[in-house]
Amino acid sequence: MEFIENRWYPACLNEELDRQNPLPKKILGRDLVVFRNASGRIGITEDRCCHRNVNLSLGYIDGEHIRCSYHGWAYNTEGACVEIPSLPADKPIPAVCRLRSYQTRQQYNITWVWIGDEALAGSTGLPSMPEMDTWPRVYNYHIFEADLKLVAESLIDAYHINHVHRNSIGTFMGNLYAGQVDFNIRKGPDWLSGTYLRENAGTFFEKLYFGFQPQITTHFGFWFPHTSKLDIAFPKRRMVIYEFYYPLDEKRISMCQVTLWDNIFRTLPPFARWFMLRKSLRIVEEDLVFLENSKKVKEATGHNDLLVTPSDEVTFEFTRIWNANTKANEDTAAE
Ligand code: FES
Ligand SMILES: [Fe+2]
Repeated sequence: MEFIENRWYPACLNEELDRQNPLPKKILGRDLVVFRNASGRIGITEDRCCHRNVNLSLGYIDGEHIRCSYHGWAYNTEGACVEIPSLPADKPIPAVCRLRSYQTRQQYNITWVWIGDEALAGSTGLPSMPEMDTWPRVYNYHIFEADLKLVAESLIDAYHINHVHRNSIGTFMGNLYAGQVDFNIRKGPDWLSGTYLRENAGTFFEKLYFGFQPQITTHFGFWFPHTSKLDIAFPKRRMVIYEFYYPLDEKRISMCQVTLWDNIFRTLPPFARWFMLRKSLRIVEEDLVFLENSKKVKEATGHNDLLVTPSDEVTFEFTRIWNANTKANEDTAAE
């Protein structure tokens, strides 16, 4: 698998970080440690101590630094070792006591990390995610073996919802109209978005909460290579789901699903939080069955996907963008 490196990757949602414990993350085959120091500065370095090479994520946050739990060496957010407790006071810290650190960027209460060519970081943007700044959100992570392209497409695949999710959100999401659906696709070199209508098929109580209008507007988006969005505009409410996914290593994928709800409260009341988390976990569990299964069956039988439905316009456009960008990545890697 060729890793697509020259993009900002979401290293963590900032609510994953606490004041004591560093957070280990594996992204594109690298073991990283993310930590927030006492001043609130977030650093990302390789996850090892340069003394005896144990994971630095086994250590703890000590004021402005991260400290290794083995012999207490302390590092700053740039990866420089700033204190060696057993070193005599008149001896300087050798220059080799330094870890590789990674560029970070703060946006949407997410810490983004740059793993690729440092010169390209400044000129590479992020998807627009305005809801992340003000809406309450819940998140869940999953690690599994699947085809990255299928994972990337799964949230914007309009046709699976009434089947895969028929026992969870299939009804209140609304039925897809039969026949040719107009997806109103807009696209750029590495993104696509669109809008379509679903029939409001909710139960009486769901309609009481979400609204009685006959149609539900669904927006969707995909930003190569790691973000998909589904935005369901019920007559009275909106629910937005983002999924971030990336290869952990040669085999496994990490996916983070973030669900947001428009709400007058900045923070969700505990019951609403519990309810949303339960719903979103259920949705992912339903998807994972098919995402993992498809890879297994393809590997076992050698068959490729058969895309023949003319109304599968989104899948065709998505595939075109995916292939064009992974091809461009291969060309750059070959240079
Ligand atoms: S291994 Fe980290 S301080 Fe010794
Ligand atoms: Fe799904």
